Amino acid sequence: MNKDLKQYNVKAEALILHHLKSGNVSEIIKDASIYSIEAGGKRFRPYLVFATLKSLGMDPNMGLSAASAIEMIHTYSLIHDDLPAMDDDDYRRGKLTNHKVYGEAAAILAGDNLLTESFNVLSTDETLPADIRIQLVQVISRAAGQSGMIGGQMLDIDAEGKKITIDDLEMIHRHKTGKLISAPIESALIIASVAEEEKVQLLKFAELLGILFQIRDDILDVEGDMSVTGKMAGSDARKEKVTYVSTYGLDGAKDQLDLLRKYAEEILANLASTLDTDELHSILQMFAIREQ
Ligand code: IPE
Ligand code: IPE
Ligand code: MG
Ligand code: MG
Ligand code: MG
Repeated sequence: MNKDLKQYNVKAEALILHHLKSGNVSEIIKDASIYSIEAGGKRFRPYLVFATLKSLGMDPNMGLSAASAIEMIHTYSLIHDDLPAMDDDDYRRGKLTNHKVYGEAAAILAGDNLLTESFNVLSTDETLPADIRIQLVQVISRAAGQSGMIGGQMLDIDAEGKKITIDDLEMIHRHKTGKLISAPIESALIIASVAEEEKVQLLKFAELLGILFQIRDDILDVEGDMSVTGKMAGSDARKEKVTYVSTYGLDGAKDQLDLLRKYAEEILANLASTLDTDELHSILQMFAIREQ
């Protein structure tokens, strides 16, 4: 990650923590919410907001509330994803999962809390015009809800132990993970009021990036090192998940990832005449080969 841009991730984390520390009626919910935020994580989604704004020649500070809100929603999705009723995992971001520390009820509520408060962070950002804030709420809630991450998570669970088509597999990845990877890019496009033509191409790039990110996650679930990923390998096989690895094999999944990477590179090459694509290019490489 670019050092200059990483400082905005630090600012986003500070904004999230400041928000969570102000005004609550339950110390447990506050602590449980802060626990999963402070556990770390790569912060790729906020980074994508800042990197896209920079590519568009905009001040990354303008994306602070959107980046924070998306990271809060993402962190909530992980808390719930790890629950016994879902993937039943014990480790996340190198620490015990939220429910292992605070119990299931508090973990469910901490997830609900992060989701709900994310929209407070976003809608109260007075540095952005009200119409931009409304557009951001629309795009981010869409990406998180039934036609986005939540919908994908249900398809993922419903597919456990079943044989599904390649199209259905792609559908799961595009929604459960892809939507919250494209939302940061789309948010930056809204903040920067980007022209429709460029928007279409960048959103296509974002879509490929999201699917590619989850293919790498599927691969790391098999060959990842827990001391680096912060989560236990083998979770997918244990839950009989349908993944790119279970469908294509390990090498086949890597080939699929390379294919998407090539398509995404082509889009960036086409955009290079009108846009500074360097940052997006390095994000693509980072997502494709990440070990964490
Ligand atoms: C994990 O996301 C869940 C997926 C969508 C694959 P990340 O790999 O971005 O998790 P953190 O935020 O770094 O913990
Ligand atoms: C998770 O996919 C996608 C989410 C919306 C959280 P996974 O279940 O594969 O993510 P990990 O491997 O637990 O991080
Ligand atoms: Mg899952
Ligand atoms: Mg999981
Ligand atoms: Mg996984």
